[in-house]
Amino acid sequence: MNNFNFYSPTYFVFGKERENEAGKYIKRFNGTRVLIHYGSGSVIKSGLLQRVKKSLTENGIYFTELGGVVPNPRSGLVYTGIELCKKDKIDFILAVGGGSVIDSAKAIALGAEYDGDFWDFYCGKRIEKALPVATILTLTAAGSEGSMGTVITHENGMLKRAANHDVLRPVFSILNPELTCSLPAYQTACGAIDMMAHVMERYFTNTQNVEITDRLAEGILLTIIKEAPIALANPSNYEARANLMWAGMVAHNDTCGVGRDSDWSSHQMEHELSGLYDVAHGAGLAVMFPAWMKYVMNHDIMRFAQFAVRVWGCEMNFQQPEETALQGIQRYEEFAKSLGMPIRFAELGAKAEDIPFMVKTLGLGENTMGSFVKLTEEDVKKIYELAV
Ligand code: NZQ
Ligand code: ZN
Repeated sequence: MNNFNFYSPTYFVFGKERENEAGKYIKRFNGTRVLIHYGSGSVIKSGLLQRVKKSLTENGIYFTELGGVVPNPRSGLVYTGIELCKKDKIDFILAVGGGSVIDSAKAIALGAEYDGDFWDFYCGKRIEKALPVATILTLTAAGSEGSMGTVITHENGMLKRAANHDVLRPVFSILNPELTCSLPAYQTACGAIDMMAHVMERYFTNTQNVEITDRLAEGILLTIIKEAPIALANPSNYEARANLMWAGMVAHNDTCGVGRDSDWSSHQMEHELSGLYDVAHGAGLAVMFPAWMKYVMNHDIMRFAQFAVRVWGCEMNFQQPEETALQGIQRYEEFAKSLGMPIRFAELGAKAEDIPFMVKTLGLGENTMGSFVKLTEEDVKKIYELAV
């Protein structure tokens, strides 16, 4: 196991009706002038926004609001939010929604404390500070409610890029599984695939002797495999929603990534897909992850065989572990399909002729990406081709 530091300061408030305590927790975390940030209308339709505003009013907290975040959140609204924060002396941002809303809030939080262009941080500039962000999560998927990450698409070139730093971890996150019962089946499925990908990016590692994080990762995967079909069959099943909600958090706050190298190539390749075609991140991952697995599995066939046996219940073929590994990948694809996810380019609306463009915008040049196997531009091209 590698040396590591792990800082995960988010205060989690979990359970039914907990969003009504938003005002109390903003006070506890010293917010006095709040920007409530939300998406394209689901929180208005569900009445959640109204309940949250009531809680802030009851606690005597000043707030202003900015809605309109779209999936694969854009830079334009971030610039608007930054201006609003500076003009209105906002000292706290409350994101009410899914990963896109939370990521947009984190981007505004960065820009509000910076004189330059917030996009600098998505092009590698070192992050030092940000306004505090809290979340009320309505979609279990991205893990941004506990993560140090934010992903934004710049309208100039539709470049989708990430920024990461501990100051971006939310100060508190309210997780009420009931809020996710209104999710369309497609979003529930995309969420399950994204959560699984967060675990799998960490699971396929070259670091040896990491049994604790292997087992945690397998536990999260087994939970998602069990609970996602239940939530799809019965969207109001509270216990399934609750298990998925916590799984999504631990899948990505790095609990199962510490002490080991993680990969992230599938995510990077997927970001080019969702940047270009504006598809859901989870759907893009359902297409890219199996292609990546097939391409790299021979690098450590026993790790893939372990994944097949422990996660998918395949029988170990000691003579031909490659067969076991392939079975595991196949079971993953069957599972994704059973959730209604695409597993090939065409089902996603992606085109083979755009592969050279995506390889180029990924911008590797002479460099490599990933850690399990270091991928060159040529490798990336071949992986995209495997997904066609
Ligand atoms: O905008 P509204 O009206 O709220 O509708 C949203 C949106 O259309 C809807 N929705 C959310 N909660 C709902 C609901 N509809 C009904 N009932 C509810 N309770 O769902 C749609 C998708 O929402 P979005 O926030 O885009 O989904 P998700 O949470 O999957 O976030 C995806 C974004 O997160 C990024 C992705 O790249 C993508 O841009 N990621 C962020 C990460 C991070 N910050 O750590 C890591 C991830 O790997 C990921 O890259
Ligand atoms: Zn993801």
